[in-house]
Amino acid sequence: MSQDPNAKVGIDGSEVGANAAETGERDLSDQSIPAGDVVDDHEIHHGHLDFQDVVQQGHTASELDPDAPAVLTVENLKMYFPVKSSGLVRRTIGHVQAVDGISFEVPKGGSLGLVGESGCGKSTTGRLITRLYKPTGGSMMFQGNDLATLSPREMKPLRRNVQMIFQDPYTSLNPRHTVGSIVGAPLAVHNIVPKDKILSRVQEILEVVGLNPEHYNRYPNEFSGGQRQRIGIARALTLNPQLLVADEPVSALDVSIQAQVVNLLQDLQREFDIAFLFIAHDLAVVRHFCPEVAVMYLGKIVEIGDRETIYGHAHHPYTQALLSAVPDVKQAAIGGRRERIRLEGDVPSPINPPSGCRFRTRCQFAQEICAKVEPPLMQIGKRHKVACHFAGELGAHPATPVTASLLGVDDQGTPVPGAVPSSELNTGPGFEPRWLDLRTQQTVGA
Ligand SMILES: Nc1ncnc2c1ncn2[C@@H]1O[C@H](COP(=O)(O)OP(=O)(O)OP(=O)(O)O)[C@@H](O)[C@H]1O
Ligand code: SF4
Ligand SMILES: [Mg+2]
Repeated sequence: MSQDPNAKVGIDGSEVGANAAETGERDLSDQSIPAGDVVDDHEIHHGHLDFQDVVQQGHTASELDPDAPAVLTVENLKMYFPVKSSGLVRRTIGHVQAVDGISFEVPKGGSLGLVGESGCGKSTTGRLITRLYKPTGGSMMFQGNDLATLSPREMKPLRRNVQMIFQDPYTSLNPRHTVGSIVGAPLAVHNIVPKDKILSRVQEILEVVGLNPEHYNRYPNEFSGGQRQRIGIARALTLNPQLLVADEPVSALDVSIQAQVVNLLQDLQREFDIAFLFIAHDLAVVRHFCPEVAVMYLGKIVEIGDRETIYGHAHHPYTQALLSAVPDVKQAAIGGRRERIRLEGDVPSPINPPSGCRFRTRCQFAQEICAKVEPPLMQIGKRHKVACHFAGELGAHPATPVTASLLGVDDQGTPVPGAVPSSELNTGPGFEPRWLDLRTQQTVGA
């Protein structure tokens, strides 16, 4: 088997840059690779069944362990990409605020889902955590280290613990390398296994992910889509990571294959106690795999909570609109209503986002305060936070802002002289034992 320690595979090895070629997301423009036979992988196509029908033939949804400690604590994380002028002297003329002050925790061995429309900053968040990008600000605490500030050299030993699975199994694997060299490269780079033991370790991992260990010498183009994603998963598993960032790991796959890959990820999670930041736009997949979900809009987390709360009792108008677009979660999410909530207009530019609440240009409940004051991500339940001045279940949004007195402003968002913003708002990562009860406007809990 060829072992190429220089193979760039995802985030192993030294720090890589931000473009696709460096992140292992390669283009397959080289047509000189002979098209091999696609190996039969027993992947059965189920016609028109949706994800929920298929996955239920496998595992039950992942459960929340409310006592699990955080494996990753992200606080006020920001990523601003500079926008350059054209011409000879390329000056910075603005910034894309791709991620703008987000805070959350990923529990040990658990999975947090990250959802939101295209361009809201999900992949950028994943790439920050795996340090494919260096953040503009904020912290990412992992095993007592702040991943945000470590140098590439300091990052190297930690990289093995934080790995990434990419979306596209067709472009994320180098077509010139055999499966053995792709999966084995991290072992060689990190000097973890003696050279003569790499092959047997690779074969072991191929077996774990449901691939034939004898196929280590084949090339990616000899495998089907689902199998290629298994190769990507095997590569990410090689170093026994504690945290996997999975960026749309099943979006490129057929529904029945999606269910198989999600079942595999659940098996791996249970067996190896791996935590996941699971990025996806498919809310049915996220509901199955993630006991906790964060909803992003234009670089901000607008709502975060446990599965039952987000899918059954969302309080943010954006979450309510997202859920109403998904046929099989719609009923629970919008309380028996059948109509879809239409999101008017386009997502504004992250270069010049709206003042106050970023969702206000598309929100049917927006009032004056929404343009003036940014709503804080406040805890309103045991495991529920929302960022909205008019937070409430669909059909029960209050007429006056629930945040005004907490923020020391009047109902229009004008500061009230002498009023002091409440110190009770928990806007940090994780959940506190006390929270704001929206109905009584009192802090409740332990
Ligand atoms: N390297 C970059 N340079 C400049 N802007 C970037 C860069 N990467 C992402 N962006 C911008 O940052 C914003 C967030 O992008 P990101 O890829 O994180 O979104 P996403 O939520 O993953 O979207 P999708 O669902 O389409 O994958 C977008 O406006 C995008 O154009
Ligand atoms: S703060 Fe205002 S604009 Fe933003 S989601 Fe709530 S009601 Fe809509
Ligand atoms: Mg993305």
